[in-house]
Amino acid sequence: MSKSFDVVVIGGGPGGYIAAIRAAQLGFQVACVDEWKSATGGPALGGTCTNVGCIPSKALLQSSEHFDHANHHFAEHGISVGKVQIDVGQMLARKDMVVKQNNDGIQYLFKKNKIAFFHGRGAFLGSSDAGHTVQVSGSVEETLTAKHVIVATGSSARALPGTPFDEVNVLSNDGALRVGAVPKKLALIGSGVIGLEMGSVWRRLGSDVTILEGLPTFLGAVDQQIAKEAKKAFDKQGLKIELGVQVGDIKVGKKGVSVAYTNAKGEAVVLDADKLIVSIGRVPNTTGLNPVAVGLALDERGAIVVDGDCKTNVPGIWAVGDVVRGPMLAHKAEEEGVAVAERIAGQHGHVNFNTIPWVIYTSPEIAWVGRTEQQLKADGVAYKSGTFPFLANGRARALGDTTGMVKFLADAATDEILGVHIVGPMASELIAEAVVAMEFKASAEDIARICHAHPSLSEATKEAALAVDKRTLNF
Ligand code: FAD
Ligand code: NAI
Repeated sequence: MSKSFDVVVIGGGPGGYIAAIRAAQLGFQVACVDEWKSATGGPALGGTCTNVGCIPSKALLQSSEHFDHANHHFAEHGISVGKVQIDVGQMLARKDMVVKQNNDGIQYLFKKNKIAFFHGRGAFLGSSDAGHTVQVSGSVEETLTAKHVIVATGSSARALPGTPFDEVNVLSNDGALRVGAVPKKLALIGSGVIGLEMGSVWRRLGSDVTILEGLPTFLGAVDQQIAKEAKKAFDKQGLKIELGVQVGDIKVGKKGVSVAYTNAKGEAVVLDADKLIVSIGRVPNTTGLNPVAVGLALDERGAIVVDGDCKTNVPGIWAVGDVVRGPMLAHKAEEEGVAVAERIAGQHGHVNFNTIPWVIYTSPEIAWVGRTEQQLKADGVAYKSGTFPFLANGRARALGDTTGMVKFLADAATDEILGVHIVGPMASELIAEAVVAMEFKASAEDIARICHAHPSLSEATKEAALAVDKRTLNF
């Protein structure tokens, strides 16, 4: 006998669990199916983000940054700590504890919102007048039926053809977060977001890190003035990034991994490393979902085809997050989840794709919202730009971190903010002001005329807005 709900959500990552909560808030009877297993085999709600993504990577970035500060920056404050050592086991245990706090937090939210949770894999069985039917298999065996199903099954790491992840020597993001000792030599393929974040963690802890990137341009999607500034900082730190390489044979042996590649000059090189992290993008998860049972259309990448409202080709079936088009970001998945729940309730849920912020949590952090200078040029938009360096910001000097800048791009005629790009300390937090400003269609002058606390990094934002009109006060 099938259990009946108003809404069934498949996937308990940020797209799915947030959609479930919003749907429950709107008065629907909601079920969520998620198959992720904790180390002990129990449920571990939160998906990639909580278990092997955003949260654990930020925990390790924090630990490794403390280590880096103790090693290289405490002395300038007059603090001596002797020989600094890292207990990788303790660092990983702390990371696991942070993950578990988040897993448990979502279970609590499900109880609070009376969401029925089913631990297992959800697969479509078919559709009838009663709605769509989902078979749950795993810790629980159950059949669920609902008029509305939200698919939020996320994504998985893409492997290099012929080199599967063994999570011992060849690591995906999962294994990269569980390395038990600092590798002497670490190789990474792909200098995107994961490559830079995970490369930074292990570089700070003492690994000799080399990142091999196929494209000739560093962070091609980032404003190039900002990307160049970031690259300078990474070079100075000793994070080796080779651009324009072509990766060839990868051999896994007892002593580690050797990666043969052709460098940008056309020379054949072999890189030997203790571990290899492959971070070359992610693929949507639809394995086991049985989309054919309901006639759900997938595109050539295997992503579920949706329109701007996250509607699939099957009435009553919606899809959000990494399993559909658009940036693979937790907050994008969440916004889509909320909007879909509201649309099911007959409301006008909306996601503004033009104001989704991006953050790369390296040191310096890189954050941006809106269009880059190269995009504005390509689109033929007349713009003004203003930059302000953290070198001239009092709080940055006091923090001892003056790398980078804030950059504003505004419409030449109307002064409307078209993009804000930051490389520097706490860029992840500073970008929020720019997102709010762009949501409210603010002009650069609006930000320039707002009082910002002194001394604060946010004054650099105000000054960059002033720079659009060539009237910075402190530079
Ligand atoms: P997921 O989080 O992948 O969740 C999908 C869930 O569905 C999983 O629990 C999965 O087990 C389950 N599932 C799949 N198929 C089925 C099925 N058939 N039945 C039942 N359950 C199923 N984004 C950011 O915004 N900020 C960051 O700092 C950030 N850091 C990241 C770091 C790393 C190392 C990685 C890998 C990713 C990071 N991301 C970050 C990206 C972010 O994790 C994803 O964009 C986000 O998790 C997508 O959410 P989702 O709900 O679509 O899918
Ligand atoms: P990515 O798309 O960010 O970067 C992949 C990189 O690998 C690109 O630069 C690409 O040119 C390169 N590449 C692809 N194939 C290659 C090959 N064969 N040889 C050499 N280089 C190759 O993907 P990544 O880093 O795997 O991350 C996946 C996604 O996860 C990100 O796009 C992002 O959406 C999300 N994420 C977000 C984070 C954040 O918001 N801070 C942190 C980590 C991940």
